[in-house]
Amino acid sequence: MIRIAIQKSGRLNEDSLQILKDCGISIDNGKDQLKASSRNFPLEVFYLRNGDIPQYLRDGVVDIAIIGENVLIEKGEDIEIAEKLGFSKCKVSLAVPKSVKYASVQDFEGKRIATSYPNTVRNYLKKNGVTADLHIINGSVEIAPNIGLADAICDIVSSGSTLFKNNLKEVEVMLKSEAVLAVSPKISEVRREILKKIQFRIRSVLQARQ
Ligand code: PRP
Ligand code: MG
Repeated sequence: MIRIAIQKSGRLNEDSLQILKDCGISIDNGKDQLKASSRNFPLEVFYLRNGDIPQYLRDGVVDIAIIGENVLIEKGEDIEIAEKLGFSKCKVSLAVPKSVKYASVQDFEGKRIATSYPNTVRNYLKKNGVTADLHIINGSVEIAPNIGLADAICDIVSSGSTLFKNNLKEVEVMLKSEAVLAVSPKISEVRREILKKIQFRIRSVLQARQ
C-alpha cells in the first residue's frame, strides 16, 4: 500500500483526483473523510492542507503527494519531484497598485510586502540585492495594499482576475509552477515499486492528453 497526499480542498483537489482516475485508480469518494482508499490499486489517499504536505513527506507520514511546485519551492526544496503533471499552472509574482509607477525590482527596497510565500520572496529579493519588510498572511493577500497593510503583494497568479479586481498589477514573475508528483525521502523500496507503476500510468495519461 502506498500513501498519497492530495489537497483537501482548493484548486488542486479536483485535478489531482482526476489524474488518478485517468490512471485507472478509483478512489471511494469520501470528501468529508480525510482518508480514502482505492478499490483496484494498492493506494491510500490522505486529504491534507497544501502547506502541510512538505512536512508530511519529509517525515515519511505519506510516501508521495500531488502538490504545487510553488509550495515545494517555498517549503520543501529538499523534496524530490518524480513527475511534472501539466495542470494547475500558475505564476508566483510580485504586484503593486495600478497607480504606482514601477521601474525595476529595486523599487521594492524598504517596502512592505504582504505574502504567504516569505522564503520565495526573500530569496528573489536577495538575489537582486533588495531588502524589504515582509508581512506574512495566509490568504486574501491581494487585499493588503487596499487596507494599508502593505505597499505590495506576492502571491499566486493564475487567471490574473484577483489582481485585476483588487486594482493591482503584476510587475515581477518570480517563478512558474505546475502540479507535480513529489516523493518522500523516506519511501520504502517496496513502495518505490508501486510508485514506478503509478509513474508509468501517469506518463501515458499525460501523453494522451497532449
Ligand atoms: C489564490 C491565490 C490568488 C488567486 C490567483 O487564492 O492566492 O489570490 O487564487 O488566481 P487568479 O489569478 O485566477 O485570480 P484563493 O482564491 O485560492 O484564496 P486564498 O488566497 O484566500 O487562499
Ligand atoms: Mg488568494
